[in-house]
Amino acid sequence: MSYPPVRSYVRREGRITKAQSRALVELWPEYGIENAEGVLNFKQIYGRTVPNIMEIGFGDGRALVSMAADNPQCNFLGIDVYRPGVGSLLLQLKKLGLVNVRVIMDDAATVIDKSIGKECLSKLLIFFPDPWPKKRHHKRRLVQRDFLAIAAERLSIGGYIHIATDWEEYAASMLALLQGESRLRNMSAADGFVERPAYRPQTKYERRGEGQGHRVWDVVFKRVA
Ligand SMILES: C[S@@+](CC[C@H](N)C(=O)[O-])C[C@H]1O[C@@H](n2cnc3c(N)ncnc32)[C@H](O)[C@@H]1O
Repeated sequence: MSYPPVRSYVRREGRITKAQSRALVELWPEYGIENAEGVLNFKQIYGRTVPNIMEIGFGDGRALVSMAADNPQCNFLGIDVYRPGVGSLLLQLKKLGLVNVRVIMDDAATVIDKSIGKECLSKLLIFFPDPWPKKRHHKRRLVQRDFLAIAAERLSIGGYIHIATDWEEYAASMLALLQGESRLRNMSAADGFVERPAYRPQTKYERRGEGQGHRVWDVVFKRVA
């Protein structure tokens, strides 16, 4: 069986600014990882061996930039398929002169399966993955059993996976799937959700949802075996 079974996104170009388009051409060689075939060599890419933090679905990139600026001692790898968002991230990276971030513009399910080595990540962050609310679309959700099994293997022992969502039923499904992963342990003492950790910036999607009265659920699990 090939993985991923179904894509978790529909490619939409949306509105792209001239600056974002230009960044995709001019700044991509500096930050982009092209055709990530084979397992990535983090030491070669970043020129150092430090904790590697990966964010899937960074959207407009602001949370990723803020975390990378706050943690220059870590390598950050952002993955998204949305070209205007990637362009926006590249512009922010250049403006702030950040050197600890690289970007892959591809399906995260494929990237984590094919391009990330076992025990390579100290953190895997997924903030507000597309909820795909209709039941017939649940198969498109990124956070599924097979994805989490692969993700758990990519974490180093002692590494964390942190997912946030504002979709209650998706939150419950994530929690149950994570609880079912024997290699992971919940960081919530009550084996439920946690308060938003201080290191997680509020995201654009989150702010929009809060404006509509949405609640937010964060889950953090640690790899223990
Ligand atoms: C709902 S948005 C959230 C964006 C951002 N994290 C935030 O909270 O503002 C989901 C993001 O995930 C990206 N995405 C969805 N499926 C993806 C996949 N399979 N691989 C990479 N990115 C994906 C979308 O392009 C989008 O930018």
